[in-house]
Amino acid sequence: MRMYDLIMKKRNGGHLTEEEIDFMIRGYTAGEIPDYQMSAMMMAIYFVGMDEKETLHLTMSMARSGELLDLSALSGIKVDKHSTGGVGDKTSLALGPMAAACGIKIAKMSGRGLGHTGGTIDKLESFEGFSTEISTRQFIQNVNTIGIAIMGQTKELAPADKLLYALRDVTATVDNMSLIASSIMSKKLAAGADAILLDVKTGSGAFMKKQENAFALAEEMVQIGKNAGRNTIAVVSDMDQPLGEAVGNALEVKEAIATLKGAGPADFTELCLTLGSLMLVMGGKAADEEEGREMLHKAVSDGSALAKLAEFVKAQGGNDEMVYHPDRLPRANMIEPLFSAEDGYVEELICDEVGNASLILGGGRETKESTIDLSVGILLKKKVGDYVRRGDVLALLHANDRKKLETARDRLLQAYRIGKHQRAEGPVILGVVR
Ligand code: URA
Repeated sequence: MRMYDLIMKKRNGGHLTEEEIDFMIRGYTAGEIPDYQMSAMMMAIYFVGMDEKETLHLTMSMARSGELLDLSALSGIKVDKHSTGGVGDKTSLALGPMAAACGIKIAKMSGRGLGHTGGTIDKLESFEGFSTEISTRQFIQNVNTIGIAIMGQTKELAPADKLLYALRDVTATVDNMSLIASSIMSKKLAAGADAILLDVKTGSGAFMKKQENAFALAEEMVQIGKNAGRNTIAVVSDMDQPLGEAVGNALEVKEAIATLKGAGPADFTELCLTLGSLMLVMGGKAADEEEGREMLHKAVSDGSALAKLAEFVKAQGGNDEMVYHPDRLPRANMIEPLFSAEDGYVEELICDEVGNASLILGGGRETKESTIDLSVGILLKKKVGDYVRRGDVLALLHANDRKKLETARDRLLQAYRIGKHQRAEGPVILGVVR
């Protein structure tokens, strides 16, 4: 078999077989197929596409390119959750403890943030001493005893995806449905859970700007999960404006803690309840979503969800006192307002610009090597549909550097479009694909 022939076949509209896809993925992971040939193949796939079978074979081949995590030592149904990412997305921080308090086993691998979107690991490191660098043995032990553990994604998990994703990133071949679906699902399948719950974001802050593309991606991933024998459900949710009010690591942790006490923002709380109730059904803890919601409400009102967060933080070396005293989490030196320059309704709040303003403050990474400031970020006081008068506070910027603060303030003002039309805030949940 020759890579040249496979590129030609795909370029001419052909369908690759399982053997051909395996040959290509094995060869690329082993360094035997050069980047230039794989780049040509990615571009051919970008234009020609892949059918359902090819997409499944690609996913399975990438999943098998490294370690397949064996979670059989864990009793019960293991449910994994994945979000396609966005601004202010701190869902795992609240949803994980809520679901674990209701008996679900959460064995989750997470990543760090790059660019204007944040990563769960960075956020969790707001707890002094917290570490996700735990051994697989410790990870499994914590899930068995506490019900929840989060570790950093190991290098051994789907290494072919890591290489391919880096290549796609620099060859303008990221935004192809089959390539995105196989990239995400290869990691989820390798991570070993029995059931997979996907949160596919759509809107200005998401990969999939258009709703119809988000639904198509959700359907594609659910199909892959089913074909691979895993119970998979996808929720399509709004990312046309940031989720909740907080953007920035420690600020998002504080918002997650407030949500676990029943005092979180409505959109974020609703997303946690929707995903959580599906998780409880998938994990066999609730008969239906209504019962799941009731269980989650109870875990919040009786304090068990918050206690679960404290237990989880402590088990991974973190200071659990901070869960009960969030004012002890990292705090910025300056808190300054962004004022509205006009009267009107907030018609738009552009996610990427809010994310970029937080990045400028130091809350995100420009490159993989950047260090981040956990204390800085933005608290949004006005969101889409709100009426504001000139001089009203639109948002509060938490900063440690005056120059960065001024640049971020200008940038954040660009995120707000204020006009005459009151646009009703849309629902956070746009649909569920089963
Ligand atoms: N996230 C991934 O993991 N892979 C993609 O291709 C896109 C988003």
